[in-house]
Order: sequence, then C-alpha cells, then structure tokens
Amino acid sequence: TPETLIRGRLLSFRRAPQHAGDSESYLYEEDGALLVRNGKIAAVGVYADVKAKAGAEAEEVDHRPHLILPGLIDCHVHFPQMQVIASYAANLLEWLDTYTFPEECRFVETAHAERIATQFFDEFLRQGTTTAVAYCSVHKASADAFFAESLRRGTLMIGGKVMMDRNAPQGLLDTPQLGYDETRAVIEQWHGKGRNHVAITPRFAITSTPEQMAMTQKLAEEFPDLHIQTHLSENHDEIRYTCELYPDATDYTDIYARYGLLRKKALFGHAIHLSEREADAMAESGAVAVHCPTSNLFLGSGLFPLKAIQRREKPVTVAVATDIGGGSSYSMFKTMDEAYKIQQLLGERLNPLESFYHMTLGNAVALDLADRIGTLDEGSDADIVVMNAAATPAMRLRMETVTSLSEELFLLQTLGDDRSVVETYVAGKASKPQFGL
Ligand code: GUN
Ligand code: FE
Repeated sequence: TPETLIRGRLLSFRRAPQHAGDSESYLYEEDGALLVRNGKIAAVGVYADVKAKAGAEAEEVDHRPHLILPGLIDCHVHFPQMQVIASYAANLLEWLDTYTFPEECRFVETAHAERIATQFFDEFLRQGTTTAVAYCSVHKASADAFFAESLRRGTLMIGGKVMMDRNAPQGLLDTPQLGYDETRAVIEQWHGKGRNHVAITPRFAITSTPEQMAMTQKLAEEFPDLHIQTHLSENHDEIRYTCELYPDATDYTDIYARYGLLRKKALFGHAIHLSEREADAMAESGAVAVHCPTSNLFLGSGLFPLKAIQRREKPVTVAVATDIGGGSSYSMFKTMDEAYKIQQLLGERLNPLESFYHMTLGNAVALDLADRIGTLDEGSDADIVVMNAAATPAMRLRMETVTSLSEELFLLQTLGDDRSVVETYVAGKASKPQFGL
C-alpha cells in the first residue's frame, strides 16, 4: 500500500488527558512528520524516527516551515445557507423569515442541491475544515446530495435531513410521518456509508409540532448511537415564542428533555441564554452546547458565557461552530477570533491553545469521535491541515516579532483566513481545491 510522509512542524492535542491549555497534553514537534497509510496516521513524531518506519517507496511532502494540525471541525452549519450568508436582518426570526426559509425552498430542486453541495465541500476544504455537522434542508434529496458529495470527497461528515412541520413556508414543511420515514431512509442509505454519519435533525421546537417531536423521540430511541442536532435558546423573542408553543414545559431545554432528546451526542446550537436549571440539565445529560460566535454577533443574539459555563460545578460540554449562513465566516480560526472577543466583553480570557483545542480535539470529544479525528495521534484518520502564519504581508511582518507557539496560533486566529491554509488532507489525500468558488 502507498505511504506518504508529511513533514513539518506538528502541533496537536493528544487524546488523553483532554485538558485545554495543559502543556503536558499537546504534542509539538519542530521537525516532525506523519506517516500516512490507508488513510490513517500510522506513525507520528520526530522526522528521522518516522522516516525510519516508512517504506522505501513512501512519497515525501515537505511542508516546513508550516504548521501541521489536525483537520478543523465545525459542529453546526447549514449546508443550504451558502447563499444566505451576509443577509441584512434585525434579528434571528426576521432573518429566518426574510432570507433563510425562502432560500431553503430552492433545495426542492435536486440540481440546485447538488451544485451547492459541491461548493460547500470546496469551501470547507479550502478553509481547512475536514469535518462538519450539517443541517440539510427539509428535502430528502438535499441530504442525498450532501452525503453523495461527502462520499466522493472521502470526508467524515455528519448531516441530517431537517424535520419541520409548521411555522415556515409550505415548501419547507414535512409531516410527522414523512419526517420520520425520510429520516429513516436517509439513515439506511447513508449512515456508515464511507465515513458518513447521519444526525436526527428537528430544526427547533418552533418549527416542529408536538406530534413531530414525538416522532423525533421515536427515532432517537430506535437509533440511540446517532447524533441529534437542533437549536436552543438563541434569541429572547425565539425563547418567548417557543415557551408559548409548549406551555407544559418548564423551560426551552425541558421541551427537548420531554422528548428524550437531551442526551450524549445531542448538539444544541447556540444555548446562549440558559437558566441555571437548564445548564444543570444539559450537564447531567451529557448534551453539548454548540457555541456559534460569528452568528451570535451577526444576528445580535447574545454573548455566550463560554468560560462561565465551563467552570460551573456541573460544566456543560461546549463545541464550537460557524453556523453558516447565520454565521459570517467559514473559517474556524475566524470563528475562534470572535469567540475570543465575546469572552473579552464578558471579562473572561480565552487563550490561544484553548481556542485551538476547541476547533480540534474539543469538538471531536463533543462529537464522541476523538478516537478518529481531532488529533494527530497514531491510529487517527489522516485528516490534516497545513497552516502558514505568514501568509499575507501583514502576517509576515507580525511573525517577525512572534516568539512563541502560542503567539503564532494567536496570530493565525486574529489575522488568518483561507489564505493561511496551505493544504488540507482528507484521509491522507491532498484535497484543498486550487480554484475555490
Ligand atoms: N434556528 C432555527 N433555524 C435556524 C437557522 O437556520 N439558523 C440559526 N442561526 N438559528 C436557527
Ligand atoms: Fe443554526
């Protein structure tokens, strides 16, 4: 079998112990290398040692002086919203009604879904993101287009056909039975095909009737190992309306709990305005709050208390994400730049290593996939990104005064974008599109 030796400055957290900012828990190798075999990392370490393990035929790629990192992970995106990004709206509900729902209606056309799926994978790989957790549209064909493209690219993707049966245009509604049947069909067709994972995806409580929520619960019980994704507590008007629609529930989080959706591998987008009771319920269940900083700022939704929620007596597991198209950048580095600024406004610190942890191992842990992605540890899938912290004139100039790894990461986070992404490897294969959109 062909082998590739990828040489450069390796930086990665290690699977255990999993503690952000803990210097013992990450690997940094100035002259390091990865040996890739069968799409996996077969060896990692000092270049000379790894080279000694490679066969004579191994192809060698020298990325020095660039940083070699695990592929970035985005835990919440909307694949049908690539043409929604940068839409001018006052708040979440206006943005959904004015731009987002009409745009998602277009995905009734399979050709449109296939075109956007191609663009989606091109753009994510250009940004160094190798795994995303995506909402498709309500149309089953949109999920088919997404997973078919993922299979072609060889990516580890998580996606789901959105279930929604009220409070949206007719063209975006399924029914409790149809949502159930089509989700089952998507699972049977795509889950475990290549590296694809299917997520059970009720959009949020506003767009699902109690009858649909009950069907979602049935799916969650029938497929206890699947991811679940939905939205929670993003905006004050949204919270108020949601609680009116489910008057028996104690609060927004309790709606999902009543339908069995509060559990491990359940990803709750935003979760900004949780009460103490809700945060306790999240923590006890092992559910994940997915922080979407650019979206929260762009839509004016609020400041997610990342640090406060992590230092609770019962900490909530936090993942990070772009939330395209409510989010305003495809870049996970840009995303963490905004996360940093939100913590600044809250009087908290988010150090560069913590940010790096969140977009790699932290997200992998939240997805319960840390044995496969999120690190450069031996045995991991060879999803890798190569980053250049001196990619632009302004970055090069600032690099002259950088004296530590932490400063270099911070520079990448603050000034970096897709121009800093030198190469993206998917299962060991160089996959960064050369000509983007
Ligand atoms: N809540 C329900 N749907 C959406 C969506 O598409 N984007 C965001 N940001 N919030 C939502
Ligand atoms: Fe979202």
